[in-house]
Amino acid sequence: MGTQQEQYHKARKVMPGGVNSSTRLLKTIGAPFYASQGKGSRITDVEGKEYLDMCCAHGAGLLGNGHPAINEALRKAMEIGYVNSFETVYHEELASVIVDTVACADQVRFCSSGSEATLHLIRACRGYTGKDKIIRIEGHFHGYHEMIFIGGHPPQSDFPRNREQPFIESAGIPQQFAELIIPIPYNDKEALKEAIHQYADETALVILEPVNFNCAGIRADEDYLQLVRKLTAENNIMLFFDEIQSAYKKSFQAAQNELGIIPDVTTIGKSIGGGLPLSAFCGKKEVMDSFSPVGQVAHSGTFNAHLVPILAGLAFMKEASAPDFYPALQKLEKQFHSGIDRIIEKHDLNMVVPNFGARFNILLGRKTAARNYEETFCHDNQEFLSILKDCYDKGVYFHDYGGGPAHHGYSIQHTSEDMDYVLKVLEAAFIKSSNTTGRFVLDDS
Ligand SMILES: Cc1ncc(COP(=O)(O)O)c(C=O)c1O
Repeated sequence: MGTQQEQYHKARKVMPGGVNSSTRLLKTIGAPFYASQGKGSRITDVEGKEYLDMCCAHGAGLLGNGHPAINEALRKAMEIGYVNSFETVYHEELASVIVDTVACADQVRFCSSGSEATLHLIRACRGYTGKDKIIRIEGHFHGYHEMIFIGGHPPQSDFPRNREQPFIESAGIPQQFAELIIPIPYNDKEALKEAIHQYADETALVILEPVNFNCAGIRADEDYLQLVRKLTAENNIMLFFDEIQSAYKKSFQAAQNELGIIPDVTTIGKSIGGGLPLSAFCGKKEVMDSFSPVGQVAHSGTFNAHLVPILAGLAFMKEASAPDFYPALQKLEKQFHSGIDRIIEKHDLNMVVPNFGARFNILLGRKTAARNYEETFCHDNQEFLSILKDCYDKGVYFHDYGGGPAHHGYSIQHTSEDMDYVLKVLEAAFIKSSNTTGRFVLDDS
């Protein structure tokens, strides 16, 4: 099959950067990872080398690679003839599971990606409220489209200017979209109050990740979320939880159920498709009724809610609702995090590894969890890339996300032996890096 580099050379001729998702070009190896097979907790590259998979499809692979229940769902789809562009009994069945397990969900619609889900639901919030502006939180991510790929992750050099002139995160997004975005720092009640005070009459929604997996796993203070809920309710502003990543990661429900703060609308995705492209958006009936044919907000598409991912989604829900599913994941979680804590303590490492269920972030440069985007500037991307490269060389695949404090995780098919190996490899990489640079070891003096 050739080497990764040879494949990269060929692929670059016919696909920009040799990839179909820009962040698949890995800084750690100077090429994309071209996969030839996935099995359980392992992923094999085109050279036939096997790696322990600690990316798990960016969080979509909670069932791991090639899970038997998903294979069975695919067989069922073949038997049915994977009819497309029709509703089936399975769509209603899957929507009913989501209504039962996501606190704010009276009604649901399905689509393929998380970006698609946030796009449609933002449109519904605007249609419902008749307002256009969006209050968003720095460090949070909600997809790659014009409506929201603005002001989330400004470079340090654009900080704090981002709050006056929201940073446009891609070429090609017109400046006019930035005029509709109001970025604020997480966990800052005064900034929230001020933004709502100033823009309540124009603001359709406040959007946030209840667990900020896209930046160091930052969690919201309980009273902060309570305040967001109160102020949005008082001002006819939709509270939008983006749970594309957090839903079903820790238990058979959304994070909002656990946090006890119920938003108006929510997006969910990633793991719900069991590895196939499936996302959903849901919310209170009165908001979901905005969608045509009940209301005036358009949402249609040839491939919307394709039967194949719908059946895979049902298979995921069946697996994840089994009584032993989350206890098994929790066992891995306990092993991994007590192991990491031991390593941090033993070597006095200046880092923190927050998690929510089976997904975690690694933040270098501080011993306590960050509370907002600005507090993550201590993280050294270059140093983290060299740590991830060491892991890669020893057969553990962490996606590099350009070296940022992004998210990683494991699946139900990972074993205790897998976790032991990951811990061993991580420990060696941390020690090597801290000995070389000394950057994230605390100075005792
Ligand atoms: C919170 C959140 N929202 C939206 C998205 C976009 O999802 P997708 O990559 O499926 O378009 C992601 C993806 O990482 C995400 O983590």
